[in-house]
Amino acid sequence: MKKIGLFYSFQTTRTAESAEKIAKEFGEDNIDKVDVMTMKFSDFENYEYMIFGTPTWFDGELPAYWDELLPAMESLTWKGRKIALFGLADQRLYPANFGDAVGIMAEFLEQFQAEIFGYTSIEGYQFMKSAANRDDKFSGLILDEDNQSELSDERIKNWVVQLKSEWSL
Ligand SMILES: Cc1cc2nc3c(=O)[nH]c(=O)nc-3n(C[C@H](O)[C@H](O)[C@H](O)COP(=O)(O)O)c2cc1C
Repeated sequence: MKKIGLFYSFQTTRTAESAEKIAKEFGEDNIDKVDVMTMKFSDFENYEYMIFGTPTWFDGELPAYWDELLPAMESLTWKGRKIALFGLADQRLYPANFGDAVGIMAEFLEQFQAEIFGYTSIEGYQFMKSAANRDDKFSGLILDEDNQSELSDERIKNWVVQLKSEWSL
């Protein structure tokens, strides 16, 4: 299996816990976990297959550490890179910005011809609006540990099965 780079902040709580579960599902040997707070920028160059994890913060925004990385990320070659996104979000307190960070990240990467994999159904979530919602599919996996933690393990399992198939791993 080709190595996957799993990028997220190790200082998060739920995003980091979810990343650990995703790594376990792929098999730890198949994944490098990369801390976006301390990584070398060149770490982005090492992988064809990449997973980015981000919570949504500040009413519909990326956390500052991702936001600050994006301008430099514009200079990388994204064409041909196979990217999947997962996001932590809260549908009860933020129904008008549910998981927006995943949508923001997908749009950013697509400008540079990255291919986004791992879309998931919006069924089973209750929200009004999400930047990650495209034709009733999220542009990644959205996990709501605040309100639906009991569903997360299965959502992660299914998503990893889906990605292995979409990526032919
Ligand atoms: C100040 C603040 C703002 C938030 N804004 C949003 C938001 O706009 N949309 C959303 O879906 N969730 C929002 N959330 C919920 C978090 O994304 C959610 O609790 C997530 O599980 C946090 O993950 P973490 O522990 O990895 O930081 C917000 C949480 C906080 C504390």
